[in-house]
Amino acid sequence: MMQIKPIKMIKHTVLALGLFASVSLYTTSVYAAPSSNVVWTSEMRSLIKNADAANGKKIVDGFCVRCHGVDGSDIEPIEEEDTPYLFGQNPYSILKQVIDFKDKKRKERTMTANVRKITTEEAADIAVYYAAQPLPMATFKTSQVTAAAKKLAEKGDGTRFVPPCAGCHGQNGEGSIVDVPALAGQSSSYFKLAMTEYQDGERENDIYSRMRFIAKQLTEQEINELADYYAAIGEYNVKMKALEKEESDGPEAPDKPKAPKAPTKPTAD
Ligand code: HEC
Ligand code: HEC
Repeated sequence: MMQIKPIKMIKHTVLALGLFASVSLYTTSVYAAPSSNVVWTSEMRSLIKNADAANGKKIVDGFCVRCHGVDGSDIEPIEEEDTPYLFGQNPYSILKQVIDFKDKKRKERTMTANVRKITTEEAADIAVYYAAQPLPMATFKTSQVTAAAKKLAEKGDGTRFVPPCAGCHGQNGEGSIVDVPALAGQSSSYFKLAMTEYQDGERENDIYSRMRFIAKQLTEQEINELADYYAAIGEYNVKMKALEKEESDGPEAPDKPKAPKAPTKPTAD
């Protein structure tokens, strides 16, 4: 074995650490590694446009169903608070997240192994399938929406450089172009987890650090209230859709608004 003198070793380690620190400071501030390899070229976008939802359903049924359910809600008994709902999600966002997991750009607990063998085309097929699944009414907790959360979501806070969430995520949390995820009806525990991961830098696949920057401006209470706000917006969207359907169904519509889907599970608070 090679003999290394301890003092020399320490000196080298200190030097190496110093060099590493300065290089990483430099790289994070100037040449940060891309937070995602996804670039929305026309080929990438056409993956979604040409996707095959029926094939997506087949893969979901055989696999993703275990944790994300057939309709994009997590299922018992595997229901975990860290599992996101995928129903009604922006398909571009699903595709981006799957690619980021494959590329190890997004840290995760289980997902990289889950999607290792899924091709990008298959991911697009799954994405359009889940995107088409309606938000199930039964998932929403009737939560208290605070005025503060509504204000942050709709107007932001100029004094702290917090832009309105709605500016990117849509007035009803429906998500927007290209890959801004829908937040309406997202599980509030997953929402909180995502925000703390952005705060800690655990999750760093958001292009231009937009979400990391925004999350760091928010307090824990604000995040909790925003999580409830977006869960409630999901409920609002479902009710509105049911009402629109009733109106288009004509005057004989029943008194009670119908949930578009059979409740999967009642959520106890
Ligand atoms: C063993 C459980 C499990 C399986 C199976 C699974 N997932 Fe996941 N999925 C998770 C968890 C947990 C997360 C949250 C991120 C993490 O912690 O890994 C997640 C996150 C995601 C996200 C990110 C959503 C968002 O809003 O950020 C997408 C997209 C996704 N999964 C798609 C899929 C697809 C497609 C399949 C099937 C090919 C699949 N998952 C199979 C557990 C699973
Ligand atoms: C400048 C546009 C922009 C604004 C403003 C913005 N977001 Fe985001 N948000 C994004 C993008 C883009 C992503 C997806 C990042 C990625 O690729 O991982 C995202 C992701 C998220 C996620 C993770 C969702 C998931 O399914 O994993 C949450 C939660 C979230 N944002 C909450 C908020 C809240 C709350 C606000 C307001 C305080 C807000 N965002 C403001 C662009 C924005």
